[in-house]
Amino acid sequence: MNSNLANTGLEPEKLPSHIAVIMDGNGRWAQKRFLNRIKGHEKGADTVRMVVRTCREIGIQFLTLYAFSTENWERPKAEITALMTLLKRFLADEKQEMLENNIRLNAIGQTDRLSAEVQQALGDTMNATASNNGMCLNLALSYGGRAEIVEAVKKIGARIKNGEIDAESITPELITQHLYTAEMPDPELLIRTSGEFRISNFLLWQIAYSEIHVTPTLWPDMTREELIGILKDYQQRERRFGRVT
Ligand code: IPE
Ligand code: IPE
Ligand code: MG
Repeated sequence: MNSNLANTGLEPEKLPSHIAVIMDGNGRWAQKRFLNRIKGHEKGADTVRMVVRTCREIGIQFLTLYAFSTENWERPKAEITALMTLLKRFLADEKQEMLENNIRLNAIGQTDRLSAEVQQALGDTMNATASNNGMCLNLALSYGGRAEIVEAVKKIGARIKNGEIDAESITPELITQHLYTAEMPDPELLIRTSGEFRISNFLLWQIAYSEIHVTPTLWPDMTREELIGILKDYQQRERRFGRVT
């Protein structure tokens, strides 16, 4: 067992291979302190660093973080600009740490809608870390679950049209293979912070059987200890997949 894991009391054989997180509550964290929402996003970026480090240490294979949704494009322009600046800074600052820790960066979503500068920073860090085979940090950026399914259906439709496959060969596996997450297992665990009991268009197909954990903690207040506690709670769950025990 790796020593980082031994210190946590987690059972190594029951760790999720893929954790997905809806990082919510940055704005409320700031509002509670009479600060600008942007301050909440800045503090939230520190939590991202802590969560990435913790998941890497305990040996999680895939960590998907919902950083910006297709719906978030409707936010005030100043907030979008601040989020994009933070993202660029995160990508540049964390590149070295990702390289040192064998982390591969991946992005899912309509990344072509991001500014040229952000796309450049993203491509740069993704290329630099492409051959790493430790944890995959998967950032959902300009991501929407429905848009992802629409894109998959379009790709499958095109393949039917050109005679490569026929409609009869459409299976759940085929659809999975045409999603942004084709190479990844479905998340066993979905975490949402800030106490909101909704999915907000995140990984609609992939979370069919995910264990859901909602915590009232606002994202900037998330700690390593709470994250380990959430994983311990997950390890107590009985996953039945519709069967009987
Ligand atoms: C999550 O925090 C970050 C993003 C959605 C980009 P919010 O900005 O949604 O924070 P609240 O929900 O307003 O508190
Ligand atoms: C979900 O949070 C999207 C991200 C965490 C990026 P939102 O704050 O956008 O979701 P709603 O509006 O509460 O559903
Ligand atoms: Mg929110």
